[in-house]
Amino acid sequence: MTSRDILEMLAATGGGPVYAEARTVADRFFGRGVYVRGVVEFSNHCRKNCHYCGLRVANTGLERFRLEPEGILAAAALARELGAGTVVLQSGEDLRYDRRVIGDLVRRIRDTLDVAVTLSLGDFDRDTYAYWRDCGADRYLLKMETFDEALHARLRPGCTVADRLARVEMLQSLGYETGSGIIVGLPGMTDAILAEDIHRLSQLGLEMIAAGPFIPHPSTPLAAPVDHAIEKSLLVTAVLRLLNPGANIPATSALDALAADGRTRGLDAGANVVMPSVTPDAVRGGYSIYPGKNAAGRDVRDAVHGLFERLRNAGYTPVADKGFSRIAGACGGNADV
Ligand code: 5AD
Ligand code: SF4
Repeated sequence: MTSRDILEMLAATGGGPVYAEARTVADRFFGRGVYVRGVVEFSNHCRKNCHYCGLRVANTGLERFRLEPEGILAAAALARELGAGTVVLQSGEDLRYDRRVIGDLVRRIRDTLDVAVTLSLGDFDRDTYAYWRDCGADRYLLKMETFDEALHARLRPGCTVADRLARVEMLQSLGYETGSGIIVGLPGMTDAILAEDIHRLSQLGLEMIAAGPFIPHPSTPLAAPVDHAIEKSLLVTAVLRLLNPGANIPATSALDALAADGRTRGLDAGANVVMPSVTPDAVRGGYSIYPGKNAAGRDVRDAVHGLFERLRNAGYTPVADKGFSRIAGACGGNADV
């Protein structure tokens, strides 16, 4: 499918038939099972200044937190207890954690909990990525956000498409199951840009692909209200499923921030993964990438149980499997390491 074909799909009114087709493909590869990844957001410090994100360094109004290794391990154990087969360690780009500290965490989590470990820590050098892989990290998430050079440069100061893409390819060459993705509905993103983004993402042979809706954050330069991108995100998810049948595709948490049934609608449009936050209650509200993320007042257990109930009511089954991708040639992680 060319970018032009994708553009035509995006322009078609009413995603219904595309969602149904995408769901049929997801059913063929994954059945009605949904892989559960527990996300430990262990630091909201970030040295970058992405215009869309509440964690950007220029947001001085945000109370910052860092979890100690023991707190991170406890959150990972809770993820396992609640039924996650993968623990995702995620943070802003925080250089305060020595790479050995992260490596130790990866080792201990894998050794004690029998889960796959995904890292989502941002831009590091090849050596560091290789070290963490040697420590047993199975997967790495690094989103392109958009492949459009002008938009990327404008919204991600100091960053380029070429540099980000080189890192994604570096991660692939190191044997990680590699994930990337885009934000749908970024200010300045046209349908033509979006179609090209979908096309380029789908050419990378990624094991994981995510497309979540842009949500304006009041303490960022992109605070102005926008038309909600929920329908478009669902359509993009469906098109990504058709183009990447065996990839792990999440129903993003950002969908839930826009609609109470956002994530089950993501599954109906062909997603097969959910990624609930298991960040401790005391700090989770501070991981405020966008409004509605980790809504205050819900404790982790309630939030995860509530999510599972909604999944079951919609005809899906949360699965505590490590959940490697089904793309052709996927290595099944590094279970032998
Ligand atoms: N709306 C939606 N998604 C966002 N992200 C960051 N800011 C926003 C926002 N305002 C996503 C990006 C990033 C991840 C941490 O969250 O894709 O990679
Ligand atoms: Fe930092 Fe990621 Fe937010 Fe950019 S999107 S400011 S890198 S946490």
